[in-house]
Amino acid sequence: MQVYVIIPAAGLGTRMSASVPVALNATPNAASSSTPAPKQFLQLRGIPILVHTLRAFAAVATVQRIHVAVRAHEIDRVQAQVHEYALDTRATVVAGGDTRQESVGAALRSLRASDDDIVLVHDAVRPLIDPATIERTIEAVIKHGAAIVGVPAIDTIKQVERTAEGAIIGTTIPRERIVLAQTPQGFRCDLLRRIFREAEADGFLGTDEASLAERAGVPVAVVLGSPRNFKITQPGDLELAEFYLQQSKR
Ligand code: C5P
Repeated sequence: MQVYVIIPAAGLGTRMSASVPVALNATPNAASSSTPAPKQFLQLRGIPILVHTLRAFAAVATVQRIHVAVRAHEIDRVQAQVHEYALDTRATVVAGGDTRQESVGAALRSLRASDDDIVLVHDAVRPLIDPATIERTIEAVIKHGAAIVGVPAIDTIKQVERTAEGAIIGTTIPRERIVLAQTPQGFRCDLLRRIFREAEADGFLGTDEASLAERAGVPVAVVLGSPRNFKITQPGDLELAEFYLQQSKR
């Protein structure tokens, strides 16, 4: 049994917006102030976010190979970064698609994995994932066939109706029944291939892999994650990630 990793990194990162300083961009030609770089190419402590993410998985000895899905026009640039940070022996760069699901699907097709191998999918923009959590996810997939990292809800959760006047609360969802899904999300390879085939056949588009498993009636275990493994999404998130990185001395 081998462990493969898919890193979807083909997002455009529009929520980060033009307010991100150009100085944070990974390469001089990556962006201008009018076209901000996708967040996975911004830098944390002088190193691209994607490289931080790759390093976390490369630090896990059981990880055989990491397939990174990027926009087709960014393949050469990311390949050069992979080389610059001496990750060539661990990482392969492939073309992603217009949605996260398409990017993961493309990377999945590029894997030469066996049915009983394990595939972990991890957002490029969660660079603070730690090797111990990755290892616990692998253990949970071995045991359950499918497992994702998640964190309990701290706030009280409301279900709302969207109206012209704004959101109106419908009900309160007991927070002890809520888990906020993170990544990695791991699956036996044959299972992941099956749920992707079924979702594609039905035209279903999910925002994570677990949602594809749920609709197929596949039980998915939850591994306790950490708020530190957050998804870098908004401008202030870079400062928070820098702070966490400084603490962990990575
Ligand atoms: O923006 P979102 O939360 O969907 O991004 C989650 C991850 O999916 C990011 O790492 C992003 O680069 C990736 N993604 C992708 N292909 C897309 C859209 C998002 O690989 N078309």
